[in-house]
Amino acid sequence: MKPDCIINAAGITGKPNVDWCEEHKQEIVRTNVLGVLNLVDIGFIYGLHVTNISTGCIYEYDEHHPMWSCIGFTEEDEPNFAGSFYSRSKIIMEKLILVYPNVLNLRIKMPVSAELDKGFVGKIIQYKKLVNIPNSLSMLEDLLPIAIDMTLKGIKGNFNFVNPGVVSHNQVMELYKKYIDPSKTWENFTIEEHDELLKSRRANAELSCHKLLQLYPNIPHVSISLQNLFQEIKEKNQ
Ligand SMILES: NC(=O)c1ccc[n+]([C@@H]2O[C@H](COP(=O)([O-])OP(=O)(O)OC[C@H]3O[C@@H](n4cnc5c(N)ncnc54)[C@H](OP(=O)(O)O)[C@@H]3O)[C@@H](O)[C@H]2O)c1
Repeated sequence: MKPDCIINAAGITGKPNVDWCEEHKQEIVRTNVLGVLNLVDIGFIYGLHVTNISTGCIYEYDEHHPMWSCIGFTEEDEPNFAGSFYSRSKIIMEKLILVYPNVLNLRIKMPVSAELDKGFVGKIIQYKKLVNIPNSLSMLEDLLPIAIDMTLKGIKGNFNFVNPGVVSHNQVMELYKKYIDPSKTWENFTIEEHDELLKSRRANAELSCHKLLQLYPNIPHVSISLQNLFQEIKEKNQ
């Protein structure tokens, strides 16, 4: 193929959700660790830039990064979330690929795009009960053109690839109710009740996108981007 560069967005997240990974560890290692490492290594041998789409779900709030504090985890912070095999596989992969000088690693978190049924919104609208926790989100219409630009410019290193700010589950649902489905209802439950139902825990955190904003200062706040997206979808559906 003689590519100029490689962008890797292949990976297994588990279906219907990451709990699947707890029972399929070898498949996860094969794709999420060995598969990515193989691509990066081949890219290194052939002198190719590799952009890897990774995850920001490797952190959870702690005493130094409490909820709603605006203190996000930076790329320098050691990942602190070991609550799922999916996340552990991503942490191992990330540590290995970041020793290579040809890699741009983009940590996407809870992605949202105009294809609402896919990604974070599609997931949470299915559930009757939701936790209500603030999180960083990746608004793909804002960020994917930046991923292409970073690749074409040959930028390397590790980046939290999220919009500035956080939104909670309820804030997302309220926007969904306002713009898309006024009949939508949901209940909240605690993180403890949530974790009892699942095989693995989920990573809730704010990620700092300061490093990304130094290069791309116009990325909108997640609340504004989300509201604009819902508004556009509503107008298209009218
Ligand atoms: N979805 C999220 O919430 C989220 C959040 C953060 C980061 N990410 C990361 O983003 C990446 C893509 O996720 P996604 O949500 O787009 O998943 P997706 O919709 O399931 O797509 C994954 C893609 O990877 C391909 N793939 C899987 N195993 C492969 C292998 N061994 N060799 C080649 N291709 C393979 C799949 O191909 P087939 O369809 O042919 O199997 C599919 O096209 C993953 O690394 C994921 O960890 C996702």
